[in-house]
Amino acid sequence: MSVHYRQAMELDLSRSDFPDDFVFGAATSSYQIEGSRFGGCGTSHWDTFAATPGNTVRSEGGALACDHYHRWESDLDLVRDAGFDCYRFSTSWSRVLPEGRGPANAEGLDFYDRLVDGMLARGLKPHATLYHWDLPVPLADLGGWRNRDIAGWFADYAEVVMKRIGDRVATAATINEPWCVAWLSHFMGEHAPGMRDIRAAARAMHHVLLAHGRATQAMRALGMDNLGLVANFEYAQAADDSAAAKAAARLYDGIYNRWFLGGVFKRAYPEDVLEGLGPHMPEDFENDFDIIGTTVDWLGINYYTRKLIASDGSTQFPALKEVEGPLPKTQMGWEIYPEGLHHFITWVQKNYTGELPIYVTENGMASHDEAAGGAVYDPARIDFLNRHLHAVRHAIAEGAPVKGYIVWSLLDNYEWAFGYEKRFGLVHVDFETLERTPKTSWHALQRALRR
Ligand code: FCB
Repeated sequence: MSVHYRQAMELDLSRSDFPDDFVFGAATSSYQIEGSRFGGCGTSHWDTFAATPGNTVRSEGGALACDHYHRWESDLDLVRDAGFDCYRFSTSWSRVLPEGRGPANAEGLDFYDRLVDGMLARGLKPHATLYHWDLPVPLADLGGWRNRDIAGWFADYAEVVMKRIGDRVATAATINEPWCVAWLSHFMGEHAPGMRDIRAAARAMHHVLLAHGRATQAMRALGMDNLGLVANFEYAQAADDSAAAKAAARLYDGIYNRWFLGGVFKRAYPEDVLEGLGPHMPEDFENDFDIIGTTVDWLGINYYTRKLIASDGSTQFPALKEVEGPLPKTQMGWEIYPEGLHHFITWVQKNYTGELPIYVTENGMASHDEAAGGAVYDPARIDFLNRHLHAVRHAIAEGAPVKGYIVWSLLDNYEWAFGYEKRFGLVHVDFETLERTPKTSWHALQRALRR
């Protein structure tokens, strides 16, 4: 793999290059940092997926993770000291409701209560997400996202959490990345529950949005506002000039980028995707669009890369495959393509969200970062962030209502199927000692945010 980065030590942007009310932040998620074995947290499907050989690198799971459950105060200090305005975190369904439904774990609710107060005490706006993938196993046993009842279970969980912290969060999101929850996990089999089944996938593709709508309504009923959804986007390009590759890229774009926005903002799924999924969809799914299309107050965009797509030569839906591209890549093997972020901000605004506020809720890169003599040198990340911030600024200059930019991630953490190998943090974590060391990118952001 050849990588050509600018050897950047500084961002060439500063806070004053963005609107006055623009917020900068860092993101994490519960299962990736907290440690699921503490505090009466129930078992999630990520615990059992990871305990099954072959699913994750070295069968690593999140039982200890970054031990954030015990180190949250100093971790929040790192967010504040970088000069950030907000912190995006997620609540664990298993920690709050170990059985998925029924009695709440008081210790779990207390934890998020203290965490939110800890943010406010440090002048950080809490940006909460209700589901970042840690589904309680008792609900997985009942079919998880394949079961329509999950919409009600999720709305009930949303109510329990937000009755406790909803009065103090700046924004609340329902689902993180419905594509990962549904397609990656039920069709591609790469994330828990590791299924590869088109019927399961079609159902999950729909139920994840139904759950989003029901939870949004439950939060509205509590009197909350600033409610949103966080979706991920990949810029799909045809790998060659053939009509087959163009059609494959278009379908990839449909499954990944147009399905969920279509449901929420147009109350319809894209026809090209329905051609394949239609036979496997739940009966009368069209009747759910009033709930799915419940008004939201903002949209979160998670963006990392583009993909080159070709036909796989088969006739079986979706009949597509990824082809390796030529651009410099991150530790994940993902091409670096900042133009894609500009594209999605303007495309989403034009086709779906109009004047609705947009947040970039995740953007960042993994690199092979090593701590040496108390420092971690990561110039590639500084260049990556710089180029993507320019893309955001470009979109704002063209009139896009982008209200914030949140880096993935605060800490090196549990990167799902890749275990602890892929390092996305602004802060390095030594997974032997759990010691935290801010990387040069953390310092560069701190200087840029102070300027
Ligand atoms: C996103 C996830 C996040 C992290 C980054 C790298 O898809 O939301 O948890 O894994 O990718």
